[in-house]
Amino acid sequence: MQDILDQLEARRAEARKGGGDKRIDSQHAKGKLTARERLELLLDPGSFEEFDMFVKHRSTDFGMDEKHFPGDGVVTGWGTINGRKTFVYAQDFTVFGGSLSETHAQKICKVQRMALKQGAPIIGLNDSGGARIQEGVAALAGYTDVFQNNIIASGVIPQISVIMGPSAGGAVYSPALTDFIFMVRDSSYMFLTGPDVLKTVTNEIVTAEELGGAKTHTTKSSVADGAFDNDMEALAEIRRLFDFLPLNNRDGVPVRTFFDKHDRIDNSLDTLVPENPNLPYDMKELIAKIADEGDFYEIQADFAKNILTGFIRMEGQTIGVVGNQPMVLAGCIDSDASRKAARFVRFCDCFNIPLLTLVDVPGFLPGTAQEFGGVIKHGAKLLYAYGEATVPKVTVITRKAYGGAYCVMSPKHLGGDINYAWPTAQIAVMGAKGAVEILHRKDLGDAEKTAEHIADYEEKFLSPFRAAERGYIDEVIQPRSTRKRVTRAFALLKDKNLSNPWKKHSNLPL
Ligand code: HXC
Repeated sequence: MQDILDQLEARRAEARKGGGDKRIDSQHAKGKLTARERLELLLDPGSFEEFDMFVKHRSTDFGMDEKHFPGDGVVTGWGTINGRKTFVYAQDFTVFGGSLSETHAQKICKVQRMALKQGAPIIGLNDSGGARIQEGVAALAGYTDVFQNNIIASGVIPQISVIMGPSAGGAVYSPALTDFIFMVRDSSYMFLTGPDVLKTVTNEIVTAEELGGAKTHTTKSSVADGAFDNDMEALAEIRRLFDFLPLNNRDGVPVRTFFDKHDRIDNSLDTLVPENPNLPYDMKELIAKIADEGDFYEIQADFAKNILTGFIRMEGQTIGVVGNQPMVLAGCIDSDASRKAARFVRFCDCFNIPLLTLVDVPGFLPGTAQEFGGVIKHGAKLLYAYGEATVPKVTVITRKAYGGAYCVMSPKHLGGDINYAWPTAQIAVMGAKGAVEILHRKDLGDAEKTAEHIADYEEKFLSPFRAAERGYIDEVIQPRSTRKRVTRAFALLKDKNLSNPWKKHSNLPL
């Protein structure tokens, strides 16, 4: 009997070694942890339950029948993060470069299906040389099975991808179908076709880092939602993000113990907006001052910085925040900002996370680059996302809400539930100077008359009161009491029950 028990332990020890000590050393030398080391850091200590540890590939071509590693290059199972369950898979680069074979794909598909059945998130730690070259179409089929599961799980359970090494070719599309992609700086990259192919086909010479490193994907392409300095930081930050997310689309938003007064008054907010309307201020300061304990988990912090997206908590409950950032492009909305915010709003809506929108926007960014780049369609994505969202929606206009941008930023007319404005708000079709240049063109040569027209326009329209008179603003509030007013609004909206008419699915402007 003892022999059999020992045999099991010996088999387990062999599987835990992955591709062997030499390859593990090589992984460490690159500054990367192994798949199992990563899972240990991601999950609560002792909570990981592994599945399919002894799975082997079935390939016989190219001498593969001689080469077997138990587990076949991916470690799968489930565990907990701060006590809440999650399914996981971690590709093991020490086994055939983490490449995806038929059986490797089957292991991932198994945990994907289990996650969906159990209503628990799935986190994939990707470190793979792509399709297992020796397997041909069987590997391609395996990839596509994984993609199909990603698609079916979308909007049902949160799916998170962390890129912790290469992710080339087919390996990029499963992450691209998930809710969030995070990367590790200097050791991860993602591209469809690598530098060598580019050199041959397009004569472009780039490094892997330039083509698909974390900087490229967090600042240029927006493929990735964030980047971290090393494996340890990345895994700690994924744990932090996980705490904000519901387990599935029916479970409800997590509510955590909080130590901040819900009615905390912050007098410094009364002077946050500068007297000169052309001067910027940092919208992140407002977010930090109204969030529980000032905690803000920013998503896509380095892309389209003219709009801010991320998670905070109010009275312990997760809230998705979208805010214009006057520090960048004066807070104007452009194509990139529209896409970034629209995707975030849709994520929050499918997982029932209430939305707080902080508005200070002088309009859409003008220019041929924007028009040729399809700002009409991209702007419509944000409009659509807000109009379709049925979660509680609270809006605070701090300063400018001009033109089409007023219409986009979660106004009453797109189903905003509680819409507040600060006394410094200016809700109008456009700024005073622009309006006077159109309405009083004939007086433009007369500086005195123009100044009078501007003053007149400012008094009439550049305040929150015209909108408040019509009920488009529910109340003009003191900046210092924003946290109190917003937390009470979300408390009121806890029982909101709204659904859109039945449809197969919407046809949002992709
Ligand atoms: C089988 C692979 C492999 C693969 C790497 N290995 N990629 N085995 N299939 N796709 C193996 C290597 O043979 C090696 O085995 C070990 O993994 C480590 O690889 P190295 O090359 O030594 O590591 P490194 O120098 O760090 O380079 C990593 C790499 C490189 C950049 C990922 O291995 C590489 O370019 N691999 C091929 C990438 C690729 O073209 N994949 C197919 C994409 S097409 P040993 O035994 O020596 O340790 C695709 C289509 C899918 O994915 C489309 C679906 C829609």
